[in-house]
Amino acid sequence: MSIEVYKEDFLRYLNKKIVLKEPENLYAPIQYILQIGGKRLRPILAIMTCDLFDENPKEAFDAALAIEVFHNFTLVHDDIMDSAPIRRGKETVHKKWDVNTGILSGDAMMIMAYQCFENYEPIIFKKLLKLFSQTALEVCEGQQLDVDFEIRNDVIISEYLKMITYKTSVLVAASMKMGAIIANVSEAEADRIYNFGLNLGIAFQLQDDFLDTFGNEATFGKQIGGDIIENKKTFLYLKAIEVCETKDRERLLKLYNSANSKDKVSEVTNLFERNKIPAITISEIEAYTNNAFKILDELSISEEKKVVLKNFGLSLMKRTI
Ligand code: IPE
Ligand code: IPE
Ligand code: MG
Ligand code: MG
Ligand code: MG
Repeated sequence: MSIEVYKEDFLRYLNKKIVLKEPENLYAPIQYILQIGGKRLRPILAIMTCDLFDENPKEAFDAALAIEVFHNFTLVHDDIMDSAPIRRGKETVHKKWDVNTGILSGDAMMIMAYQCFENYEPIIFKKLLKLFSQTALEVCEGQQLDVDFEIRNDVIISEYLKMITYKTSVLVAASMKMGAIIANVSEAEADRIYNFGLNLGIAFQLQDDFLDTFGNEATFGKQIGGDIIENKKTFLYLKAIEVCETKDRERLLKLYNSANSKDKVSEVTNLFERNKIPAITISEIEAYTNNAFKILDELSISEEKKVVLKNFGLSLMKRTI
C-alpha cells in the first residue's frame, strides 16, 4: 500500500474515534489539535512497519492512534512551554483558549492515548504498554533537558543529541517498534527497526531545528525564529558557538543572554548564514539518515520493502513542512 493510502485510512479511523463530547471546553481543543492537520508521520510509520512485516496494517490502527493522540498532547503542552503562537498554520490551543485549557485537555489526551491500547490481546498489550510508558517518560525527560538548556551556556553537542533523542526520536522509534510488535516479529528484529527509527528521528529533529530558522512559515506552519526567541540550544546554535570566530561567538552569547531585541531573529539568522551553519546542518541530517539506512542491511525483510523504508527516509529529508 502507498503512504497516502495509509494516511487516508488512518485519518478516517481517527475521525471516527475522536468525537466531540461534553464538557465542550475539555474536548473541543482535543478535536481542534487533532484535526488541524499534521504530517501523521508516527502513525504512518507504525502502520507501514506492521504491513512490511506482513501483518494486516489495520491491526496497527489503535496503536497508531495512541501515538498520534500522545504526540498531539505533547505539542499542546510544548506550545505552552515554548510560548508558541502558531502550530500547523493555526493558533495554538493555549492562544485560542487559554493555558489552563491546554493543560487539562492535554492531560485528558494522555489518558485517551492509553485507552487506545485496550483492545489488544494480553501478550501484545503488555509489550505495547511497556514500550509506550517507557517512551512517554523519556519524552518528558527530553523536554526537561530542552528547557534546562535554555539558560545554560555550556551545552555541548553530545548533550543536545541526548536531548533530541529523548524528546523526539524515541517516539518515532517506538512507533515503528509497535508496528513490529503487532506483527509478532522477533525481539531482535523489533530492536533493529527501533534503531532505524531512532536515527531517522534524530535526522527529523535536526531538520525541525533547521526549518525553525530557515523554513517558510506558510508551509512549516510555525513561527519562524521561535527557537531563537526562546534561546533554544539547537544544533544550529551549538554548531555556531563551535565554529564562529571570537567576535561572532561573543555576539551570539550576548544575544542569548539578554532580553529579546527587535532584530534578534534576523541578526542570529545572518550570523548562522555567514558561518555556513545551514550547509553543516544539512550534512548532519544526511549523516543520520544514512546511519538509519545502514541498519536496513541487517533487517530480514525483502529488498523491495527496504526500498519503501529508504524512500520514506529520503522524502523526510527533503521536507519543508
Ligand atoms: C513536531 O512534530 C514536533 C517535533 C518533534 C519536531 P511533527 O513535525 O511531526 O508535527 P506534525 O504532527 O506534523 O504537525
Ligand atoms: C518538541 O520539540 C518535542 C515535543 C513536543 C516532545 P520542539 O519544541 O522543537 O517542537 P516544535 O518545533 O514546537 O514542533
Ligand atoms: Mg516547540
Ligand atoms: Mg519544545
Ligand atoms: Mg522545533
